Formats: sequence, C-alpha cells, structure tokens
Amino acid sequence: MKVDVLLGLQWGDEGKGKIVDVLTPYYNVIARFQGGPNAGHTLKFQDKKHVLHTIPSGIFRQNAKNVIGNGVVVDPVILKKELEALEAMDVPFGERILISRKAHLILPTHRLLDAASEASKGKEKIGSTLKGIGPTYMDKTGRNGLRIGDIELPTFKEKYNKLKGKHLDLLQRYDGFVVVGLEEMEAAFFEGVEWIKKLQIIDSEYYLNKQVSKQQRVLAEGAQGSLLDIDFGSYPFVTSSNTIAAGACTGLGIAPNKIGEVYGIFKAYCTRVGSGPFPTELFDEDGKTIAAVGSEFGATTGRPRRCGWLDLPALKYTVMLNGVTKLIMMKADVLSEVENIKVCTHYKVNGDITDVFPYSIEEQPHPIYKTFKSWKTDLTGLTTEDELPQELKDYINYLEKEIGIPIAIVSVGPDRKQTIQREAFEIK
Ligand code: GDP
Ligand code: IMO
Ligand code: MG
Repeated sequence: MKVDVLLGLQWGDEGKGKIVDVLTPYYNVIARFQGGPNAGHTLKFQDKKHVLHTIPSGIFRQNAKNVIGNGVVVDPVILKKELEALEAMDVPFGERILISRKAHLILPTHRLLDAASEASKGKEKIGSTLKGIGPTYMDKTGRNGLRIGDIELPTFKEKYNKLKGKHLDLLQRYDGFVVVGLEEMEAAFFEGVEWIKKLQIIDSEYYLNKQVSKQQRVLAEGAQGSLLDIDFGSYPFVTSSNTIAAGACTGLGIAPNKIGEVYGIFKAYCTRVGSGPFPTELFDEDGKTIAAVGSEFGATTGRPRRCGWLDLPALKYTVMLNGVTKLIMMKADVLSEVENIKVCTHYKVNGDITDVFPYSIEEQPHPIYKTFKSWKTDLTGLTTEDELPQELKDYINYLEKEIGIPIAIVSVGPDRKQTIQREAFEIK
C-alpha cells in the first residue's frame, strides 16, 4: 500500500480541509506533515463550519486516525482551543489523534520573535500570520528547538527556560520592541502542554510505516501551498517549511518510493494572503466580485485575501514540483458571477515571453491572458458531471490539456456534498 498526498498548488487556502474531509472515508489514517497553526482548514457539513489549525481534517469522521506528524510545529495554546472545541462536540479526540514525539513546539517567545521580526521589516514584511512559525523552524534547523517528546522529560522546564532566555536576549536586539504579557502567555502555554499529554504521543514514523505494511490507507495532508514553499515559493514571501510533496516524506518519515497518488488542489482562480508577488492580481471590479462571492477572508487571521485570475505558468510549475497525478479544482461556483474569465498562459518579462515562474519580485512578470466566457449558472446545487454547463466543461478541458493531468474532482461549494467526482475514486 502507498501513501497518498493531498496538497495545495497555489498560495494556500485552496480548499484542502474540505477535500480531506470528503476523502477521509476512503482512508484509515490522515497525517498532517508540515506547517502549524498558520494553517486554517475549513470544513462544512450539516450547515456548520469548522476551522482546524493543527488537527488533521479527518477528525470528524469515525474510524479514521489523525496523526500530527514530525514535520508540524505545534502551539499548545492553539491546540488546546481546538481540542476544547472537539470536546464540546463530543468528538472522542483521545482515540482519534496521535501526535509525533518529534514535532516541534512553538513557545510564546517564538511568537514574540515573529512579531518583532515582522515589525522590524516595515514595508518589506512577509505578512506572516504571527503564529511563531518562522522562529520555530529556525530553532529546529538551528538545533535548539523543543519537541513534543520533551514534555515527558523531568528536565522540560529547564530546557524551556534555557531556550526562553536565548529568545529574550534576541528580542532585546530589536529596537523599540517591548515584551508585554509574557507571563500570561506562558501560563496558557503550560496549560496547553497538559492537554497534549491527553493525546497519544507516538513515534509516528514507526506507526505510519506499520500502517502501510498492514495495508492501511494513509492520506498525507499538506498545509499552505506550493508557492509558499521555503525552497520553491516566491522567496522571501514564503512560509518556513517544505510544502511540496517531498515535505510529506520528511514530515512523516515516509520513503519516496512509498508515495502513491499526489492530489494537487487549486482554485479556479488565485488568491494570496500576506505580502509578495502575485502576477495575476486583480484590482478591479472582477477582483472585488471574486473576493465577495468567494468569501475570501483568511481562516486564521481574518485578513482579506488578494484575488486574481488563474496563473497557468505557476500551476504548471507546482504540478511539476509535486509530481501531481490528479488535479482537484475548487470554487468553480464563484466564477459564475463574473462576465469573462481570464487565464494567464504566459508572462512577458523585459519584452520576452516566458512561462517560467519568476525568480524574484523585481522581474515584474506581466501576464498574458486567454479569455473564456463565464458559465453564468448557479453550480452550487449540481451533483453530477453531466449537469455542468458547457462553458465550464470547456474551461476544464482546456486546463487538462494544458497541464496534462486529469481534473478528478470539481468542487462547487463549501459543503461536503457540493463535490462532483469526475472519476470514480479508487485506492491503489
Ligand atoms: P484550506 O486552507 O486549503 O483548507 O482552505 P481554507 O479553508 O482556508 O479556504 C477555503 C475556503 O473556501 C473555505 O472558506 C471553504 O469553506 C471554502 N470552499 C471550499 N471549497 C469551496 C467551493 O468549491 N466553493 C466555494 N464557494 N467555497 C469553497
Ligand atoms: P493554509 O494551510 C494561506 C502565508 C502568510 C504569509 C506567509 C508566511 O490554510 O492554506 P507564516 O505565518 O507561515 O510565517 O506566514 O505565508 N500563509 C498562508 N497563506 N494559507 C495558509 O495556510 C498560510 N499559512 C501561511 O499569510 O504570507
Ligand atoms: Mg486556509
């Protein structure tokens, strides 16, 4: 049995949470492999919306285990809030959630360092979610970090104080940054740590490989999107982890030859939250319409998301990086509300036509568009492929031909039920 991977192909918020929830009945284990509470994954069923930050999106389905992998960074304060919400809904999280001993902890001072670093950058700020992600991964690669397994050690408090001391020294170097409220933040942190002890703390690499050898079906859930990848995204306006399929190997301890399907999710248009280049960004009425109809506000920070047309060079780039085997197209229903739909096929850079994703923001790629007629039909009640309007079928066919990968699922609304499977779903 192979491990399938599901990840975002754009700048995050493609709809990963919804599709993981839809696919969970086909799997035994859902495993998050990177990122942390910078993620906000939205699920909708029975007229209720649920937003998950750390917990994998299979949590609401019976019979599936949900693993928080070693590649994830965990803020105990946020995890506690998520667990409390599950408890209020009588979800038996103690049975369903397993957490890697090797996942790193986000300390209160990591959050302060994130805030200080962003404030010091002024106009050049990344637009971080301020959840402490960058500083925590820096401590991980700098070999200073604290891990989930450390909370079980008698020396935990000592280790914590040592790292906190380093952070306070660093914070002093940021001109004008004043540390306030640390005591309260620390109290919440240690309360959260007690909640983590209610979970099954495991060596997740052994657990997952055992499940694979027992023919159990595992789905790896990505966070963020490939254009936010630390190596291949629009650096430095990226997150601090490998969001691409390779991140599932390092973030779970799964060997590359054990990866099966790679599901790449994209919106029928593009969004981005935070700073950084966005070649197809819209500043006109179409942009406003997409933002309003698509409710494009961050699930973690509530910030408005920037909206723009689909960017094919960027999509082809991320399909290549991830070895995508199946595409999943989200939010087609949102484009019913615009007159004409555009797709960027190439960029013009210094007079040259190219479809290479730009190295840096300075290149100022100018998008070249192909225009499609909108379907102008309410899609949100449709359930089969046959019912899709011809204009949408044309859009799908064009994209499949350009990218060379089938679009297996078309999503036409936020609810579980608003999902059209174009191919029968099967497990290899
Ligand atoms: P994630 O981070 O990739 O899980 O995505 P988010 O949850 O941050 O953002 C996706 C948003 O779009 C959420 O509000 C979803 O409820 C919503 N959504 C998902 N699929 C669809 C769809 O097909 N149509 C519409 N209109 N909304 C969708
Ligand atoms: P999901 O999993 C969209 C963005 C931030 C910022 C940059 C760096 O819901 O798709 P960070 O806090 O990681 O240091 O921020 O990355 N970002 C996301 N954008 N969806 C996300 O996650 C994101 N996680 C981080 O807005 O631009
Ligand atoms: Mg999100």
